[in-house]
Amino acid sequence: MSKPPSRSDRAKAAAAQRSVAFIEDGMKVGLGTGSTAALMVRALAERVRTEGLTLTCVATSTRTADQARGEGLKVVPLDEAGWLDLTIDGADEFDADLSLIKGGGGALLQEKIVAAASDRMIVITDASKEVKTLGAFPLPVEVIPFGWTATQHLIGENLEEADVLGTEISRRMAGSEPFRTDEGNFILDLALVRIGDARKLSLTLNQIPGVVENGLFLGLCDAVIIGHGDGRVETRDLHTGTVHEESVLFEETDNIFRDL
Ligand code: A5P
Repeated sequence: MSKPPSRSDRAKAAAAQRSVAFIEDGMKVGLGTGSTAALMVRALAERVRTEGLTLTCVATSTRTADQARGEGLKVVPLDEAGWLDLTIDGADEFDADLSLIKGGGGALLQEKIVAAASDRMIVITDASKEVKTLGAFPLPVEVIPFGWTATQHLIGENLEEADVLGTEISRRMAGSEPFRTDEGNFILDLALVRIGDARKLSLTLNQIPGVVENGLFLGLCDAVIIGHGDGRVETRDLHTGTVHEESVLFEETDNIFRDL
């Protein structure tokens, strides 16, 4: 039996539910990864079922692809879809410029490629992910397994010169084994505490041999939808500078909370 939804579940579900209203018939849509994105996939599948929308979806992980297909959505590879109209994804942190840290779920590489191949990216989140300065959430960096200790060493050396407060690096584990991304790579989590210059850090990291991509999403996100436990949602659009507030009402028995 599934447990009753927590305030955090409700906040994520409210943001997820609101976000799918931005999807129009015929669109090519990027589907993010994580618990909030999973609720969005569920809400989107519900719209497709009830409204008969025709959509082409591209997933940012095998996890999301499996869920989306299971919910009846049409999922194709990015190369088949070409350019996307909209990507909706979660985030681990966002700031006032809608710069993000992503990759807590280990899918940052495909997430960044898909977001970059989209006209528009909307982030769905609860209010706890908003920060003044990025960095409290450890920054995920995807690295090639070959020579990963040398790559880690070089990252560490570069962090000494970077505008950050912490320099601790740990390889992500899945139980007793190293965590592997969909591409078979490792994730190094960088406990930076505070990132002073995210753009410079991102460029520095991506120049190190062995680094595939980092979890800083800069200049990619166009709007954020922030959900609250009482069903309120706030939509902030970076380009228009507008903020909209409304409410999304749920019953505990709503389909979106199934099997939480
Ligand atoms: C996946 O790799 C991440 O980028 C997620 O989008 C991010 O960790 C947010 O996940 P939750 O929605 O589960 O908090």
